[in-house]
Amino acid sequence: MTEVTLTHLSKSYDGRYRAVSDLSLTAPCGKITALLGPSGCGKTTVLRMIAGLLAPGDGEIAFDGHSILPIPAEKRGAVMAFQNHMLFPTMNVADNVGFGLKMRGVDKNTIRQRVAAMLELVKLPGFEKRRPNELSGGQQQRVALARALVVEPKVLLLDEPLSNLDAHLRNEMRDLIFSIQRQLGITTIFVTHDQEEAVILADQIALIFGGELQQVGPPEDFYERPLSIPIARFFGGVNFIPGHKWGAQVETAVGAFIPSCRSSQPDGPVMLTIRPENIRLCANGEEDRVNGRVLSHIYAGTHTRFKIATSDPDQSPLEVIADASLQHRICDGSPISLHLPPDKIWLMPR
Ligand SMILES: Nc1ncnc2c1ncn2[C@@H]1O[C@H](COP(=O)(O)OP(=O)(O)O)[C@@H](O)[C@H]1O
Ligand SMILES: [Mg+2]
Repeated sequence: MTEVTLTHLSKSYDGRYRAVSDLSLTAPCGKITALLGPSGCGKTTVLRMIAGLLAPGDGEIAFDGHSILPIPAEKRGAVMAFQNHMLFPTMNVADNVGFGLKMRGVDKNTIRQRVAAMLELVKLPGFEKRRPNELSGGQQQRVALARALVVEPKVLLLDEPLSNLDAHLRNEMRDLIFSIQRQLGITTIFVTHDQEEAVILADQIALIFGGELQQVGPPEDFYERPLSIPIARFFGGVNFIPGHKWGAQVETAVGAFIPSCRSSQPDGPVMLTIRPENIRLCANGEEDRVNGRVLSHIYAGTHTRFKIATSDPDQSPLEVIADASLQHRICDGSPISLHLPPDKIWLMPR
């Protein structure tokens, strides 16, 4: 198994603007790493540099500690699937999947066996004789995946593998990629702009904004321990309360809190955040509560989402996700108290 290390990687296309800037990251052996970020943030550029389709302007790329920069793309053992990797329209599925083996001079019998095994893996057994135009979009994607994997690469690179599929196919393909990756244990780096996709598929997420790495870690870090307000927002964070930290205590316009998180924020101005699903609605008047008033609510089947105005006119309303049944018991306009559990409060720089 292969560990991929990027060190101080940079790339500019026109010499001035940097598409990727000083990016350092390790993609661990046998795990799925997601490169996540908005469109244009440099994800594909990173992937193409790893694949050998683009030379870095600066920095190093290593597989298991050895630089791969001197090694041409076809010998690196990293295959890239999906973007700009359409199937050959005149070849049948077997020839498409076996293409990489044929180029390597593998004998026909072995090719036939390996192609059959790959089609089994992507759940298209017996599809050898079909042509690409006789396949659905989802089936074509699976053939492309089989074609990438047939050469037994060390590293699998997937560029937005789910973005061209409709919702139903997307889930199916996502589950297939996950199960194949777990079966083969291949180090996988995939690119996506969709945080939900990254959270479901990845062991590790690397979040990139404007060519710069913002945060690396397991998916839960981005919900529970975002390093900045933009990161929290990208992951659906909506509740931000400015405050001032004095030792263990944080004073805000809506009350004082003693968060129990291990936050490394120094004393001074901070931004307190808490996810809507972690705030609890309580009967009015209890101590140690944030007092507010229900502005509006939306019933969403599995839960109800409330907007609560606090006593501070400058504070934007806090959002709370609560039990769906509460919509019958809590009316818009009524006073309400909020409990912010100390272990769910997180502090960021302001
Ligand atoms: N061949 C190219 N020439 C010039 N600029 C490019 C080229 N490819 C990408 N870019 C620019 O580099 C930035 C990053 O692009 P890209 O890596 O494709 O982003 P992403 O995959 O995250 O959408 C974008 O601003 C894009 O316009
Ligand atoms: Mg891209």
